[in-house]
Amino acid sequence: MDNNSEQVHYHSYLQLDQILSAQKPRSEELLIKPAHDETLFIIIHQVYELWFKQIIHELKAIMAMFTEGNIDERNIGIAVAHLDRIIEIQKLLIQQVRVLETMSSLDFLEFRNLLFPASGFQSFQFRLVEVLLGLKESDRITYGKTHYQDFFTDEQKRELNDIEEGGSLFECVAQWLDRTPFLNLKGFNFLEQYRHAVHEMFNEQRETIVKDPLMPYQEKEQRLDMILGSESFFYQLLDEQEYQKLLDDGVMKLSYNAVMASLLINLYQDEPILHMPYNLLDRLLQIDELFTTWRYRHAQMTKGMLGKKPGTGGSSGHDYLRSTADHHHVFKDFHNITTLLIPRSALPELPKSIRKELGYYYTQKH
Ligand code: HEM
Repeated sequence: MDNNSEQVHYHSYLQLDQILSAQKPRSEELLIKPAHDETLFIIIHQVYELWFKQIIHELKAIMAMFTEGNIDERNIGIAVAHLDRIIEIQKLLIQQVRVLETMSSLDFLEFRNLLFPASGFQSFQFRLVEVLLGLKESDRITYGKTHYQDFFTDEQKRELNDIEEGGSLFECVAQWLDRTPFLNLKGFNFLEQYRHAVHEMFNEQRETIVKDPLMPYQEKEQRLDMILGSESFFYQLLDEQEYQKLLDDGVMKLSYNAVMASLLINLYQDEPILHMPYNLLDRLLQIDELFTTWRYRHAQMTKGMLGKKPGTGGSSGHDYLRSTADHHHVFKDFHNITTLLIPRSALPELPKSIRKELGYYYTQKH
């Protein structure tokens, strides 16, 4: 180390003076008897914000890879590692709700009135995470006339809008899937074979129902109708023209090519070249689910603290938060693709030449 350079010290490196002096309970200032639990309330929010910062750091790193068109197999592995880190952080975020729940509603109410009109609703970083993942304005649940950006500076609004207009992780992955060459399986008509396998699967299900000696006639009719329903959804997704209707109605956002590519990745996930793409899609679904779990836990905690009282930010409180948990999913197209999966044993077998192409070099010698 250069003799002239200042020696690094734990305390200054981590800027602990700033961090540890950033807890200023309002009840200490404004009440005769300060509220003991306000310190926990402040610290837990600060910890959340620090983890949001780390999640944003990871998401931006992944998106840089996609936007630089740098998506070879090695980089998909790196992207998956970033996503895995986000997943572990999300698990912590869910667990931390329990720490806050050690505060009783009575103790929270001691200082809650001092917080009006502040609210987690105003967290810029939380919105940035949502928008970076791909949540769109048109898919948001709103309350009253409050727009989620109302509390932000012009610069913050610009950042959110720029990402919303085409730069989210969802879009990056969607475009990557759209141009993926996986579907180009020289001479192997994947769709035709797959359609046949699907047809066989539904026929088998129908046969089991029809042959069941104990099932009453009416129930059989009902179940056969349900099978017909999922069969037509299958064919709607598989047929390019029918699929266009799902796009027009806003049921799906991924292009037809992207759906077919992710279907193929899911079905042939065991082929070495498709492992990492499969992991990537799997991690996106996990992140979506963990976000939903956090939203439910947060809503549940709010119910325990407030019952039916409205939030400090002006929403209906628990009911608003519950509906965001129900509706704010980003990767639902990928969930829909799960509907298209069939048993592993029913998968159309890939011709040897194609399996070879999807394998690693060292497995190809045999
Ligand atoms: C006593 C604990 C808490 C209560 C009672 C509570 C209550 C609420 C309520 C009622 C809302 C809806 C907006 C409003 O009307 O204010 C809200 C939104 C929010 N809160 Fe909390 N909250 C608590 C703790 C936390 C913590 C620890 C975080 C961590 C960052 C957090 C983050 C958020 C976020 C991000 C939103 C916006 C959610 C959305 O619009 O989808 N809250 N909170």
